[in-house]
Amino acid sequence: MAEQRELVIAIDGPAGAGKSTVAQMVAQKLKYLYLDTGAMYRAVTYLVVKRGVNPDDEDAVTETARQADIELKCNVDGSGKPRVFVNGEEITDKIRTREISNLVSPLSAIASVRSILVDQQRKLAAGGKVVLDGRDIGTVVLPNADVKIFLTASSEERARRRLKDLEKLGEKADLQELLAEIEARDKRDSTRDVAPLKVADGGIVVDTDSLTIEQVVGKILDICSAKN
Ligand code: CDP
Repeated sequence: MAEQRELVIAIDGPAGAGKSTVAQMVAQKLKYLYLDTGAMYRAVTYLVVKRGVNPDDEDAVTETARQADIELKCNVDGSGKPRVFVNGEEITDKIRTREISNLVSPLSAIASVRSILVDQQRKLAAGGKVVLDGRDIGTVVLPNADVKIFLTASSEERARRRLKDLEKLGEKADLQELLAEIEARDKRDSTRDVAPLKVADGGIVVDTDSLTIEQVVGKILDICSAKN
């Protein structure tokens, strides 16, 4: 078999489209590093809440982002659930609550917070052989990525998936409320001035509504093979 080229793979899309599950599985299959950039925005949000920082005070939030030493730990072979740490504290599950999900989007719209995290993401991805998921990977962070996927699904389907995720964490939620929260977050992420969520130039839209996770992963791996 011909030598496989080392790729940089960007997976963007709205909340609950399945980006993290799919990105993680693609990384595992290719033995690539997986970088969950949403977890970095969530980690800053966690620290803001924990320290009682006023989320409307952009300078204070930016200072918090600067002080956040974020570590994303995944096994070298990409297996297992990636763990997230901030300043040495494990926050893997603590950043998945509804409180954090609802606050992360306004904080992510602050340009100075983004520039701190985007710098870190570019450094982490510099070695190649990496899958990143987020909102602006193919548009802003790594516009020269070899593969750019825009993963999406209807908001109803995404709300149903999010409900299941929360139930696994032991959090009760109402489907209609979750749907409203997801649509509000999509709107905020897509209409913000800095790095809005949109399909990148050269991006391939993958609608996951009627596809299983395995089918989505297969599709992305096929797109990657075509690049080799
Ligand atoms: O898992 P889910 O799709 O719900 O969200 P996430 O990937 O954990 O990202 C949480 C939030 O962080 C998003 O709603 C965005 O506001 C923000 N985010 C961003 O602005 N840029 C990224 N590259 C990743 C996340």
